[in-house]
Amino acid sequence: MSNAIEVRDLVKTYATHDGTMLQALGPISVEVPSGGFMTIVGPSGCGKSTLLKLLAGLIPKSSGSIRVSGTEVTAPHPDIGMVFQSPVLLPWKTAIENVLLPARVLGLDMAQSRERALKLLAMVGLQDFADKYPKELSGGMQQRVAIARALIHDPSILMMDEPFGALDAMTRELMNVELLRIWHEAGKTIVFVTHSIPEAVFLATQVMVLSNRPGRIADMVDIDLPGSRTLDIMSTDAFGVFASRIRSQFNSQGLL
Ligand SMILES: Nc1ncnc2c1ncn2[C@@H]1O[C@H](COP(=O)(O)OP(=O)(O)O)[C@@H](O)[C@H]1O
Ligand SMILES: [Mg+2]
Repeated sequence: MSNAIEVRDLVKTYATHDGTMLQALGPISVEVPSGGFMTIVGPSGCGKSTLLKLLAGLIPKSSGSIRVSGTEVTAPHPDIGMVFQSPVLLPWKTAIENVLLPARVLGLDMAQSRERALKLLAMVGLQDFADKYPKELSGGMQQRVAIARALIHDPSILMMDEPFGALDAMTRELMNVELLRIWHEAGKTIVFVTHSIPEAVFLATQVMVLSNRPGRIADMVDIDLPGSRTLDIMSTDAFGVFASRIRSQFNSQGLL
């Protein structure tokens, strides 16, 4: 299997306002196979969002190398779709117009994109809501629109930064099940940042556990649970073993 993402000795240092340098992340080396689902957990401020932005080419690295879909990342990468914690939809545009926004920016064929947007809205369960405005949609529905928008240019990689953090627990669990379905259906590679250990285990094929800042890999856990999962799996012994391995990693480092 080929790798969608290959990171070697990646380091990020920010220049802060008072002129000092702050090492936020690394060195980190990791590989994510094509079609894999990597979740990233770690304490607040350890560099999770920084890592995602580096992978997507949204900010420059300080050293090391990042290869995505076989090419070195030096600028915003076209093969990546991003979903942030807040869906940031334009309130004066309908759901489908929000989904189509990147297609307009990228100058894609609009007739084809519109067709694709309708399919994506159906895939995220919003086939009847294409012409609704964001204020007419629940938080979970808005985040689904944001997922459809991230997929409009058909990237092979989807990056999600605590996308369900603002949702209530029940909606969040439903969104997790939905996301796994979308992952199977769309055949994407996904990198997903979360604060929640159960969410990290439930979704992943591999969990990256980061240390305190500067974030380094404290543990890398392959989750060999079945590919198609329902919420019931959370009460199995196998699931509990993975979750407690990650939790003990947090505890042993004083991360919680
Ligand atoms: N643009 C920036 N300039 C300076 N420091 C930053 C910048 N962005 C993030 N940081 C710092 O880098 C560290 C990691 O931030 P971040 O990646 O947002 O962590 P996380 O997402 O894990 O909470 C934090 O200490 C944060 O304050
Ligand atoms: Mg963050």
